Amino acid sequence: MIPDLPTDIDQIKGFLAEDEAQALYQQALQTSIAGPVLEIGSYCGKSTIYLGLACRINNSTVFALDHHRGSEEHQLGEFFHDPDLYDAGEDIMDSFKEFRRNIRRAGLDEVVVPVVAGSKSAARHWQTPLAMVFIDGGHSLEAALTDYRCWMPHLQRGGVLAIHDLFADAYEGGQAPYAVYRMALASGLFENLGQVNSLGLLRRL
Ligand SMILES: C[S@@+](CC[C@H](N)C(=O)[O-])C[C@H]1O[C@@H](n2cnc3c(N)ncnc32)[C@H](O)[C@@H]1O
Repeated sequence: MIPDLPTDIDQIKGFLAEDEAQALYQQALQTSIAGPVLEIGSYCGKSTIYLGLACRINNSTVFALDHHRGSEEHQLGEFFHDPDLYDAGEDIMDSFKEFRRNIRRAGLDEVVVPVVAGSKSAARHWQTPLAMVFIDGGHSLEAALTDYRCWMPHLQRGGVLAIHDLFADAYEGGQAPYAVYRMALASGLFENLGQVNSLGLLRRL
């Protein structure tokens, strides 16, 4: 039971299973006492709310990084396209308004700091050590690798790296997050904390 979880959390658009959300919350609760959490890929704020509720308990912060233009699969004509999030006038995806609405309604405006930018641009001058990094941005190999390379160096020792959408079987889903997860494990820089559904958890040594 997560205190203050919005009663309509299941109505918020997103891609997180219940057990993954619980695991994210627990990891953020344990780590954010030592620093802020950064998530790459906030979409409409579902995962952000779980992270934010944990951070609030520790008086910490979630940096919610997303350009809000959608990943490849959210674009017009693609499988996960949502017409509610499409700005027809500008001919562009825009999840930021929905994200802000959900964060405000969850009472997390003072905990969640939106970073509306591409992952690589946002990382360019980043200096703040992070207690937890959650990677759930673009799922192409290039995007997933970029996220890992840009943000892993900012994860402090003892911090947790969480990667969403790990599928060992290509028939279940794209392989890029899983490739990055295996790369991280093979680097020797992490302790394996195991997997909850498709969420991989690693602790930086
Ligand atoms: C799978 S969704 C995130 C889902 C969200 N974590 C949840 O639980 O509901 C992926 C998000 O990553 C964002 N994204 C994709 N590539 C990005 C990049 N290079 N920089 C910033 N955001 C990116 C997209 O705009 C999209 O909102």
